[in-house]
Amino acid sequence: MKRVALIGCGGIGNYHLGHLLQFDDVKVAGACDLIAERAEGVAAKTGGQAFTDFRRMYDTVKPDMVFVCVPPTQHGEIELESVKRGIPMFIEKPIALDLELAQEIDEAITKAGLITAVGFQCRYSNIVEPTLQFTRDNQIVFVECARIGGVPAVEWWRVKSQSGGQLVEQTIHQLDMIRYAAGEPKSVYSMTTRGFVKGWENYDTDDLTVTAITFESGALGSVSSGCYAASGAAFDSKITFSTPDSRLDHYIIDRVNIYGAKPPEAKSGLVVQGDGTMASSSDGQVTIKDDGRAGITCDRTFVEAVISGDGSKIRSPYHDALKSLAFGLAANESMDTKKVVDVVQFA
Ligand SMILES: NC(=O)c1ccc[n+]([C@@H]2O[C@H](COP(=O)([O-])OP(=O)(O)OC[C@H]3O[C@@H](n4cnc5c(N)ncnc54)[C@H](O)[C@@H]3O)[C@@H](O)[C@H]2O)c1
Repeated sequence: MKRVALIGCGGIGNYHLGHLLQFDDVKVAGACDLIAERAEGVAAKTGGQAFTDFRRMYDTVKPDMVFVCVPPTQHGEIELESVKRGIPMFIEKPIALDLELAQEIDEAITKAGLITAVGFQCRYSNIVEPTLQFTRDNQIVFVECARIGGVPAVEWWRVKSQSGGQLVEQTIHQLDMIRYAAGEPKSVYSMTTRGFVKGWENYDTDDLTVTAITFESGALGSVSSGCYAASGAAFDSKITFSTPDSRLDHYIIDRVNIYGAKPPEAKSGLVVQGDGTMASSSDGQVTIKDDGRAGITCDRTFVEAVISGDGSKIRSPYHDALKSLAFGLAANESMDTKKVVDVVQFA
């Protein structure tokens, strides 16, 4: 039985806990949160111990792995101390708001050879394989993405210096998926606007950002990220990968629609089962639905990697997530400088 520690017992910490409680080869032995009642709430569900200081938790519980589920500004000490102690980490995105700090952590992780995973759970959805096959088989000319939603009720989220803004805090899932499927971005140019969102105290972030992207492949892209929507009717979330004669719309953790391309087949090695998750309409459009297992698969993949010592099935190790952070932070820099910014590249 492996001992898991949880740091940060808020929204996403409890989401992961829901998965960990379903695994019979791990025990959540320690829970840590600056708010004692939150840590105690988790401990009550797991039979583990509650802490407000992660170092004390490490000393007492001696975990085999840790889930780091703290807000974006709280990264740094936790990761560096975990590396020192050789504790494999599952870290929530965004991994930091400061690229130099993330690089320092990345170098320490690489030197220690530590298993890590970052919470880009969308990569584990069953709709990702068809998307990867489409972008492998077709030359992508244009990537068009929109994520339009509302303002989350978490207080730190509304202050850009604490969240990184919506593009880096939320839409980084889309940036990550774009990189995963269409390759690395080279440069970005972003515009931003405010003044549309009303009624939130201490709101100090962009209502909408629009980012133009050049890719190493020569393709172009655009990402629109807005939190101005006051009603679900205004919500949108879609990434379109476009080629001269076909198109794929990827709706993260929901479905993909493929237009004009041969649908993926089971014999091509794809996990598209005959269980109703794939349907074809009369106009040649193919829809493949998400099976709802991305989140638990993401967590299970990390746990199994730690147990086996083989991290090769992890789809988003820290070093890869660093590139998604660099993408988002380049866009933020462009918003500030009003100039085209080259995305920092990592091998
Ligand atoms: N992968 C996903 O789909 C997904 C979804 C939601 C949130 N997230 C990410 O998870 C992170 C946390 O988001 P949330 O919604 O759970 O926030 P939250 O505010 O609900 O929870 C964060 C918790 O961390 C605690 N905390 C802060 N600093 C700490 C520290 N130094 N030591 C211990 N505890 C500390 C806070 O008291 C709080 O309880 C964010 O980076 C967010 O982007 C990821």
